Order: sequence, then C-alpha cells, then structure tokens
Amino acid sequence: MSIAAPEPKANMGQPVPRYDAVAKVTGRAEYAADTPLNRPAYAYLVTSAIAKGRIDSFDLAAARQVRGLIDIVTHENAEKLKEAKLFSNGGYASTTIQPLKSAEIAQDGQIIAVVLGETFEAAREAAHAVKVNYTAANPTASFDSPGTTSARAKGQLAQFKEDPKVGDFARAFEEAEVKVTASYETPTQHHNPMELFATSCVWNGDSLTVYEPSQYVHGLKNGVAEQLGIDADKVRVINPYVGGAFGSKGSMTPRTAIIASIARRLGRPVKLVATRDQGFTIATYRAETRHEIKLGAGRDGKLTALRHEGWEISSRADAYAVGGTKTTTRLYACPNIESLVSIVRADRNTPGFMRSPPEVPYMFALESAMDELAVQLNMDPIELRRINDTTKEPIKGNPYTSRSLMTCFDQGAKAFGWAQRNGKPKSMSDGDWLIGYGCATTCYPTQMAPAAARIRLQRDGRARVEIAGHEIGSGAYTVIGQAAAEKLGVPLEKVAVFIGDSDLPPAPVAGGSNSTASTCSAVMMVCDQIRQRLFKALMPNETLVDKAKETVGVGQTPSSRAAKSDRPLDLEQAFDALGVSVVEEYGEWKPEGAPIDSFHAMHNGQMRMVGGDQMKDKIAYAFGAEFVEVRINRWTHEIRVPRLVGAFAAGHIMNPRTARSQLLGGLIWGMSSALHEATEIDARYARYVNDNLADYLVPVNADVPSVEVILVPEEDQQINPAGIKGLGELGNVGTNAAVCNAIFHATGQRIRKLPVRLENLEI
Ligand code: MOS
Repeated sequence: MSIAAPEPKANMGQPVPRYDAVAKVTGRAEYAADTPLNRPAYAYLVTSAIAKGRIDSFDLAAARQVRGLIDIVTHENAEKLKEAKLFSNGGYASTTIQPLKSAEIAQDGQIIAVVLGETFEAAREAAHAVKVNYTAANPTASFDSPGTTSARAKGQLAQFKEDPKVGDFARAFEEAEVKVTASYETPTQHHNPMELFATSCVWNGDSLTVYEPSQYVHGLKNGVAEQLGIDADKVRVINPYVGGAFGSKGSMTPRTAIIASIARRLGRPVKLVATRDQGFTIATYRAETRHEIKLGAGRDGKLTALRHEGWEISSRADAYAVGGTKTTTRLYACPNIESLVSIVRADRNTPGFMRSPPEVPYMFALESAMDELAVQLNMDPIELRRINDTTKEPIKGNPYTSRSLMTCFDQGAKAFGWAQRNGKPKSMSDGDWLIGYGCATTCYPTQMAPAAARIRLQRDGRARVEIAGHEIGSGAYTVIGQAAAEKLGVPLEKVAVFIGDSDLPPAPVAGGSNSTASTCSAVMMVCDQIRQRLFKALMPNETLVDKAKETVGVGQTPSSRAAKSDRPLDLEQAFDALGVSVVEEYGEWKPEGAPIDSFHAMHNGQMRMVGGDQMKDKIAYAFGAEFVEVRINRWTHEIRVPRLVGAFAAGHIMNPRTARSQLLGGLIWGMSSALHEATEIDARYARYVNDNLADYLVPVNADVPSVEVILVPEEDQQINPAGIKGLGELGNVGTNAAVCNAIFHATGQRIRKLPVRLENLEI
C-alpha cells in the first residue's frame, strides 16, 4: 500500500472518538477485578474501630466457625514485610503506616486482619464475626483538636523545597493603600473513584502478577518487589483500564504487598475488592487545609504585597504536604511576596494527591481574596486580574513559556455574558432568586517525565504501540494512537495501542497532568526512528536522516514537525528496500532539563518530573478563566448553579473531544468542591462519618444544567516537541472560588469556608 499523507481525521488535534469507547460501553473493557482467576481465595478486610491505641486480643472463635473460611491473617501471624518508604521521600508508598506489623493502631480504619474465604460471602461473614479487644487512647482528629503538632513543611520532606519569597512583604503591606486580610478553609475530601480499591495477586513459581487499578504500574511493581524482598523483574502489574483514580491510585497502598504475601503463603490466587467505606481509610484523600491571605495594592489595583500562609493536616507517621504556594505566589505580578506552609499532624491516615492537589485548596484562597480586593477597589474582578497579569513569574523573574490568561478571560466573559453583570452586590434578581456572577483564574503546572515506547510497523501499515501509560478515563489510548497514526502516516484504525502493563516500556505516573505530554512525546520520537529507517532504506544517499533528527529533540517547532510528517512514504517500497516485513524500534524520551539519572530512575519506577516552576530559566503553566452563575432563593437559601463557563489554553490540544470531556468534568468537580463535597469527621473518634456514596455528596445532572468549555488556541514551542500542556487537572481549579465570588455578588455575603451549606447563608 502507498500512503501519501496521514488520515486527516486521525491527525493530532482532531476530535477522534475514544479508541476504547466501544469496549467500555459494551463491557468488554476488563478492569482489574474482572480478571478471571483460577480457584482464588477471596479476601475481606477487617479494619480498626479505633483511631489510636492498641489491639489487646482477637477473638476468632466465631469467625473460625464460618463455612468456607480458609484463613485469618492478623499481626500475630502475618509475614513481616519490608518497610515501605513514602513516595515523597524517594519511595513508592502512599503511607508508612504498615498494617499487620504490630498491635499498635495509628489511624481509624487501619487494616487489622485479612479474612480469606472460598467465596466472597464466606470471607465477609467471617470478617464480621471477628471480635477485637482494644485499649483505646483519645485520638486527635483535626485542626483545633487537642494534641495536634504543627511545623513548617520545609525540611520535613524531600519533595517540599521552598516557601517562595521575594522583596520585603512586611514593609510593602504596611505601606499599601488598600489591604485585604482573610482566612479560608477547605474540607476533607475523598476521591471516591467508581472502581473500588481492588487487588488480585497470582504467583507462578517465584513470579508475581498483580491485577490492580494503578496510575503507575512501574512504580507499583518496584514498590511491591521491595516490600516482598524480591527482584522487581519478578513482578508484573496489569491494568488495561482504571475506573477512576484522581490521585488515589498513584502510589502504592499497603494492601498490595499484604495480598501478595498471603497469596504466596496460601499457594493460590487471592482476590481483594475493598468496600466503599474501607476505601476512605486504606487509601489516601485530600486533607483539610487552612489559609491566611494578605494582599496589599495601590488604588490603581496593582498588587504591591502578597502573603499566603497555609496549614495542612497530615498523619502522625508521614509529612505529606501539597504545598500550593508555589503556584499562588507566582500567578500575578507583585514585587513583595512571602509564603509559609505548615503541616499539622493528627491521628489520621496519610493524605495524598487528589485531582489538582495543591491548586484546588490554595487557589480557592487566593482567588477568593482577589475578589475581595476587587470589591474593596470597586473594580471589575477581571480588570484586577488584567492589571496584575504578567509574562514573568515574580519569584525568580522567569518567563512563562506561554500564558494566555487574559485571552481566556476575554473569550470566557464574552460567552458568559459578563458585560450584563451589574457589579454591585445584591443588585441582580429574578423573582425569588438572587442572581450572582462570579469568576476566577485557573492554572496548572505543565509537567513532563521521561517515558519509553516500543513501536512496530508492518508492511501493510498496521502498527503496534507499546508503552506503560495508563487509561484512567482521560483518553490515553486515543491520544497515543493519534500520535502514532500521525507520525507513521497510517490510519488510526491500523494502530493497536497497548498500555497499563508493567511489562511494557516504562512511562511515568498518570498524574500531575503529565501523561499526554510525556507518552505522546516518546511515541512520536520512536515513530520518527522508524520513519528514519524506512527513508534511509529508500533514499540511502539523502540527507533526510539529519533532517529527521531535527524533529526528534526537545523544543522543536511545529513547522519542522509538519515538514517531516508530511513527507510521503511508500511503505511497501521501503519495506522491500529493507528486505523485511516488520520494523520495530524502541526509544527513551526525556524532557529538556531532566536530570542525568532520569532513564535509570524510570526503569526503577522512580520519576524525575520536570516542568512547572521547577525549570531552570522558564516556567510552564496552562491557564484558564472560569465563570459561574448562581441563583439563591431568598426564602429557602437554596443555591443553584445554572451555568458554568470555562475558557482554557493548554498549548496543542491532542484531541478536543477528550480534552473537552476532561475540562467539563473538572468544572463540575470544581463546583462540587464548593457546594457538595466534604468528608465529615467525628472529632471524638477521628473517624469519617459519611463514608459512602449516599452520604458523601457528589453532583448529579440536575446540579449542572449547562456547562460550556471553550478551547482557546495556543502555541507553545518551548515545552516539548508537540507543544502539549497537560489539562487533566486544569478544569477544577478556581471553580470553588468562582462559586463563592458569585455567592458574594448575589448576596453580599462572603463565604470563606467550604463547602457552602445553605444554613451558612444569612440573607
Ligand atoms: Mo493526579 S491528583 O496528579 O493523580
């Protein structure tokens, strides 16, 4: 066959339907717990009913009577696993609280026994029959509970390097003409992915296969191997589909090595599907945060002083901090900036990443405070952001690789009808409904990490792409397929994509919105290698190879890529010239500025993520502007959000259809983080109360009648060969502030603590 040019419909940038759409809607997509196992033992977890103290004894007599019981594993008879290091201190684990190690209890809902049965029902019945005698101590639940300890985050964990600071904040604030000082709070939230936390472990001799939903198969593989004390190459993690993760499946939880160890001991496969409520305590969550913001400005609206102090809850065992001042101190032009993040320890499970981890809470504070400043200045909030817009981040003065924030505001405002807004609070209404318009900035760092790919192209144009990326619902199969189709010049239908398996070439965690940029860059590079070989076979004397090389490296312009991709290539002739029917290439890609040990680390399941504010002489972020209309019933205080509009610029959009879907979901989640979601904690027991989907409020269709996503065209030639900025986490940043800003506009009441409940409104 002869292929003149790539199929236009498959090109990068086209709204191709999802590669996995049919598999998903017909139930053919296999999730980890769907994998059929040969005579598995079913595991059911018993979790602690106290948050602090110790187990005195178990009474297992009743549990042992249950028909079909195989075994009960507690700290008294469990294999002693090797310690797991926290991911943010160079390890793989989401927590260092290691269950089944001793009688000590460090958190509510800690795994204290694993019951194995011939059926799920037998295991569950026996688990419910396990009696535990505890000596309980008084736990510390959260902020304001007796017994918390607070210390600055810097110095407590390797990943948290600085509290950004520049100029002389104290003096500038003292001298500022207009000032805002305000405190904000965000609640505990749980990811609640639809797919539960499942793990199946199968041993074949000394080799282990783990079927588990994971955002990072190479990380999990290496982490489990380390805890079991075996060679990492003896472990394989498989999960072609992940049913939602949002950060909760990014690092290793203790359950995996525990189940693997039990499977080894029993000599048969073990399958665990933890229950919904257990998911609240055996995995991570977004911890509650507090903030104090101080803004100083001139009458002209120019910021002269900015201070952001944040406090975050973590466990006694681990210093996890999201630390969002790296973003909030760099967003607007301001000569005098100070920030400080502290970790407050309580008797809780260790928190972790949750979609847009630092930006959701930290930007809520900053973008609320910016609105408060606009009110004080009697200035339109968009105008305030325009006055303080910048092309350079203010801490080090590094330029943004691209920044289309105000274009997003302009396009979003137009679509939303911002011009109809009467700036005066409480000035707009419709019968019994007070109407408020609010807006906020969103931004998210552009991050990338090294990735490898293996690609095979056949004479008939069929291609096979192998890369251990992850389909967490974001469209990874689709964009990887598009990248290969475009670069190889074959129709998308001929490209088979294999991801979600640690036996494939390593790719980074599907987190930090880095996946598309990292995996597509690797795939494009390896496709170029294939094309180089084919061209060379056809035209041995041409200088094409050198020309092709230009398109491989970092920082290439879209035009040089296009020149290469457009080059027609006759596959049959090329394969005949090579004398083979299949060409296969493997390659390892790393972003500019990645450290020297990047590839070595990549194979060990360790990431060397670069981008965002961590670049040497530039800074890379995606931006957007979000608009919210609220309607509040003046008698019942019911809060409705009839409209959400977001305009986003994130470099080259690989697929507007999957991108739009990410941003839609983000906007809805962002609204939800203002009005719906919160995990309630019983402070007496440090225990989550609403640990189920009936009581944990999530939005339904009726809560979001209209959501509009505008993709603002943007070209960024400095970040990666395809000019891709991630956008998976961009949509739900700032939305919570935009909602509260709209509520202020509707009612004149400023809500600084999330979530907003109607009983908090005093109209
Ligand atoms: Mo995301 S919270 O970086 O998985």
